Amino acid sequence: MKETIRTLVETFGPAGSEERVREAVAGMIRDRCDSLTVDALGNLIAFREGKRGGGGGGEGAGPKRMMLAAHMDEVGLIVTHVDEKGFMRFAPVGGVDAFTMLGQRVVFGNGATGVVWMEKLDKMKDLRFDKMFVDVGAASAESAGVSVGDAAVFDRKMAQIGKRLTSKSMDDRAGCAVLVETIRRLGPAPCDLFFVFTVQEEVGARGATTSAYGINPDMAIAVDVTAVGDTPKAATMDVSLGKGAAIKVKDSYLVAHPRVRDLLVATAKDSGIPYQMEVLERGGTDAGPIHTTREGVPSGVISIPTRYIHTPCETVDVEDVEACVRLLERTLMKGV
Ligand code: CO
Ligand code: ZN
Repeated sequence: MKETIRTLVETFGPAGSEERVREAVAGMIRDRCDSLTVDALGNLIAFREGKRGGGGGGEGAGPKRMMLAAHMDEVGLIVTHVDEKGFMRFAPVGGVDAFTMLGQRVVFGNGATGVVWMEKLDKMKDLRFDKMFVDVGAASAESAGVSVGDAAVFDRKMAQIGKRLTSKSMDDRAGCAVLVETIRRLGPAPCDLFFVFTVQEEVGARGATTSAYGINPDMAIAVDVTAVGDTPKAATMDVSLGKGAAIKVKDSYLVAHPRVRDLLVATAKDSGIPYQMEVLERGGTDAGPIHTTREGVPSGVISIPTRYIHTPCETVDVEDVEACVRLLERTLMKGV
């Protein structure tokens, strides 16, 4: 599990450029799926057929369809202008803030490394992206090797701190790892399963929007990170690292369907899996657009408690990730 997470978090994949993550995931699950396809926007869809006569499907109806979603993309920056000396101006990709970017080392898709710094400012509170630049060590725009429209991500390897793992892009490669690990362990389930590794969540959950329409599921569960309230003087939030899988009740874009929420809670209780209830006051996941697809899809989220989201130091507890895998695996064995 730890090595799966390491491989995925250390792969380059800003929103819109998820190819390398998709290849890494496909390599991990190819021999465990009935089919593996890539749709028009780049979502990777792993299909596992449900066992027939195993419940799920009603009289005359086909088997029920369950969609699982975790996003492959990560936050980063995108070059908006290269000046004559080779310094680059940039815009954020996804919800990353200027203070987090300052002083970071970033890496582009072609392997070029950049460092992020700022103009002279009188007050640090004036720090904004338009006062910042990326230096790739080039003397001119021509020699920069990076141009307008190229995206970069934090340059950061995973490290273990205590029994926790810290890295860039735990959001949501840790969620991708939960799906991968579930596919590896899962026996024949009573319903058809569509494991979707989505694109462009960080810029508006666009891959989830189209893939949910295409799959037309009867139920959906997203796996993503959620914030915690367990660091010094943090905003009050009843989720902590090390207390198990978080079962979402609500965030900015979703009120979890009671049927899905109750299924997750009952499964956690039955199987003795540690869990905690999550109310996230700001933010959302792929389950937001999924649940309003077509005539509506009962949806919920299994969340991985995570500190320092959208920084190079996103930190998770391995046992929480393990609890998420067990919860998802047990839930899928029950079916829709
Ligand atoms: Co995110
Ligand atoms: Zn996420």
